[in-house]
Amino acid sequence: MSGAIRYLMCPPDYYEVDYVINPWMVGNVRRSSRERALQQWQALYSHLSQRAEVKLIQPVPGWPDMVFTANAGLILGSTVVLSRFYHPERQGEQPHFKAWFEEQGYTVYELPPALVFEGAGDALLDRAGRWLWAGYGFRSMLESHPYLAKWLGIEVLSLRLVDERFYHLDTCFCPLSEGYLLYYPPAFDTYSNRLIEMRVPPEKRIPVQEVDAIHFACNAVDVNGTILVNRVSPELEATLQERGFVVVQTELTEFLKAGGAAKCLTLRLDETVAPQTDPVATVLSRTVILQGHLVDSDLLTRAVDCIVDNGGSFQILKFQLGEKRQSTSTVELAVSAPTEETLDTILSALIEQGARLSEETQQDARLERVEKAGVAPDDFYVTTIYPTQVRVAGQWIPVQRQRMDGVIVVKGSDCNGKTQFSAYCTLIRDLQVGDAVVCGVEGIRTVRQASKERSSQEFTFMGSGVSSERRVEILVEQIAWELRQIKERGGKTVVVAGPVVIHTGGGSHLATLIREGYVQALLGGNAIAVHDLEQNLYGTSLGVDLSRGTPVKGGHKHHLKTINLIRKYGSIQAAVEAGVITGGVFYECIRAQVPFSLAGSIRDDGPLPDTEMDLIKAQQDYARLLQGADMVLMLSSMLHSIGAGNMTPAGVKLICVDINPAVVTKLADRGSLESVGIVTDVGLFLSLLVQQLARLGQVYKRPEPALAAH
Ligand code: ARG
Repeated sequence: MSGAIRYLMCPPDYYEVDYVINPWMVGNVRRSSRERALQQWQALYSHLSQRAEVKLIQPVPGWPDMVFTANAGLILGSTVVLSRFYHPERQGEQPHFKAWFEEQGYTVYELPPALVFEGAGDALLDRAGRWLWAGYGFRSMLESHPYLAKWLGIEVLSLRLVDERFYHLDTCFCPLSEGYLLYYPPAFDTYSNRLIEMRVPPEKRIPVQEVDAIHFACNAVDVNGTILVNRVSPELEATLQERGFVVVQTELTEFLKAGGAAKCLTLRLDETVAPQTDPVATVLSRTVILQGHLVDSDLLTRAVDCIVDNGGSFQILKFQLGEKRQSTSTVELAVSAPTEETLDTILSALIEQGARLSEETQQDARLERVEKAGVAPDDFYVTTIYPTQVRVAGQWIPVQRQRMDGVIVVKGSDCNGKTQFSAYCTLIRDLQVGDAVVCGVEGIRTVRQASKERSSQEFTFMGSGVSSERRVEILVEQIAWELRQIKERGGKTVVVAGPVVIHTGGGSHLATLIREGYVQALLGGNAIAVHDLEQNLYGTSLGVDLSRGTPVKGGHKHHLKTINLIRKYGSIQAAVEAGVITGGVFYECIRAQVPFSLAGSIRDDGPLPDTEMDLIKAQQDYARLLQGADMVLMLSSMLHSIGAGNMTPAGVKLICVDINPAVVTKLADRGSLESVGIVTDVGLFLSLLVQQLARLGQVYKRPEPALAAH
């Protein structure tokens, strides 16, 4: 009966829902009726035998899912790629299927042990034999696809499954005769949907609704235009009939309890390929290396999440575990993705996390010229806070002026007839025509410090949300200690502060820190300066008496009067020198010659003459003052702190204090060891800090300068 359509089925003698390996099986363990299952299976068998030749494989006790012969392997011509099941519950089926295929004279290919692939359940031929649709995401691995392409000599189109209920490709996707495609689009990610739409013209696509999808309408067997299926809605039936199909509904509810229906219960044995096809699997792959405290930190988990979330998959090639607690581990991963674009997205995210492309495949960084000033080439590499190196002419060179959200420019200069290269970070707006900008992902690596010793004295507490008072105290103790160290070695601490510092009564403490030499630069906006000066002049902040916490009659005017007064003198410095301002944060800055920068914003009153309303200039000013900082204390100003954070490279300790946990999380979560978040009242924090420093013997509290009477 050669030339006839042939299928393989397996009688349900030992069929039962014995375990849960897909969402359909949940709540159905031992809930299927053997008798009904047998009837339903026989009905399908008889429909199929009327239209094709059906071969049977002997069922084996203990392997209840063996009825689902679609998962035996993938056949093309006389070749089979044997399945390698994901779940141990089904792995025992493999040898039985293998033996059967060999008996029948097929050439059997077996995937490397690490590669999971579940046969025709996850790989469906275009009915004209032009290419193979292959699913991945739940049961089969993307990395198996290149093997299918190689062994079967066919183009493979990889589709990513994203809905757990449709864990095998054949549960939501069914190529039909005449180039039609019955499928459930939401079961696939965006890219896969795009791929489907590129290959199947609109008039050939038959998308189904969820009601049909969950009755396994896509799990259909098309025998020359007759569609055998569990159940379809009247609408879908009509659609299929209009396209010339005959629909035969045959109830398979007992098998739905195990997550399968008509198509799963059959394996087409006579698949052929259209002769002219070109065997290419469009899977691209690169080897990346991760190094660090992979086990203690969540580095590896994050990398894997990032690969899968972006539509790729991975395989672990090598895993070298660090011997001692302090030593680092190394993992070599093969990252695969269905397109160049996806692969690039994944690789750049991994590089951002500190991964490296393997040295053997490493190329020079791709440089593109700037064509319009202030505009970067399309796929420019976006910088991170981490020290970065780029590969130019075979050499790795360090990138200067590291900051995040910048671009890297490479410059070459002549040095005794040889070109010397250098690289630096800059902003998009500062790019000049002709600048060579690093693009793509090749030839870029970021350097992470992986010292475990350091993190033992690291004062991190993030994740716990709100800090208990005792915890705040411990953190403050450590920060005080660190501040003292920085001061003693002539280092640099920069404070970024919002007006809340003054409202919460932290002004005098901040003034103390400045006076005692713990602060080397102060960054803020118009408001903190106005409030601080108002407090010195009137004892109020935005009209509220700070010692009593109550509004002062007519106090709201204090704010504008303060601004006006400083405007009269021309600058804060002039007002201090004239003896008008006699204390407070800015008074101490002027006295101690601590530089400050006030960045303006749309809501500013005044502004003060010192406030820089040209924001580009203000950003440059901030960047200048942040340069060389060892520690940045961010006190209750999300706006200015984020601004400062963007300019600060990794390695600088960031302390973020805010009463709002969301702000703290946003600021402190830079993925670096050095940031610490403290959820507390900033006034309280500063007062504790000054106390701690006093205890360390470094600060003795001088009496507050008397408030000037006005
Ligand atoms: N219980 C089986 C499993 O989860 C059902 C297999 C259905 N087969 C299919 N080709 N979709 O593996």
